[in-house]
Amino acid sequence: MNIDLYFTPLQIQDELALQNKTVIVVDVLRASTTIATALKNGARVIIPTASVENAVKYASTLEPDSFLLCGERGGKIIDGFHLGNSPFEYTEEKVKGKTLIYASTNGSVAITKTKYAKHSIVAGFVNISEVVRFVKENSNDILILCSGKLNRFCIEDAVCGGMIAFLLTNGKSRKRLNMSDSVVASVKLYKSYRKNLLKMLKESEHGRFLIGLGFEDDLRVASEVDSIQIIPVYSDGVIKALR
Ligand code: MLT
Repeated sequence: MNIDLYFTPLQIQDELALQNKTVIVVDVLRASTTIATALKNGARVIIPTASVENAVKYASTLEPDSFLLCGERGGKIIDGFHLGNSPFEYTEEKVKGKTLIYASTNGSVAITKTKYAKHSIVAGFVNISEVVRFVKENSNDILILCSGKLNRFCIEDAVCGGMIAFLLTNGKSRKRLNMSDSVVASVKLYKSYRKNLLKMLKESEHGRFLIGLGFEDDLRVASEVDSIQIIPVYSDGVIKALR
């Protein structure tokens, strides 16, 4: 098994080179958490877009009652959109049966960059074991893609990426597997934070930013390991729950 990890989507030089890889996209705060929550609560599909303009353009092709425009800029709901990016907004009452057109600053952009991948899967702490189980059964060449923040490193995505690698390899040493240095470093980070993931989120740059906006409860939801049994798969431009 080969495992590599990119700390930001900027490291993708050639999207076509992902063709033979399984890519696991990680945006713990908050895209991965919110996407898993929306699918758990019955969203039909989620269409990630790389910009707000693309989201609005896409919406204009759909029946008015069939979709919700979702996402954030600067952590806040976008003007004229139906939902922001807090998982608490994605209730069954709001999202069941709907197409969600989703534009977040980093997560949805990272996901759209994986369109040529053999498999593209969205993971956070909330659905980590489900994703690892699927990937173990279906893949040999794995890239963990951290969404980061505006093409910069985010500790919460690296820790989650490290946990994914740790679980994929059952904690075995690097000698027996092909792990990149970024994977080895992320596994070490995970090991040093695993006792208190919520504390790590609260101390992170983006965590502190979200707390400042009044979203502290979102961090608690994002830290809940295996609370959601969903594998969100991105294929043909849409994210669906694997059945
Ligand atoms: C993103 O995709 O940039 C994040 O999910 C931002 C956020 O916390 O809303």
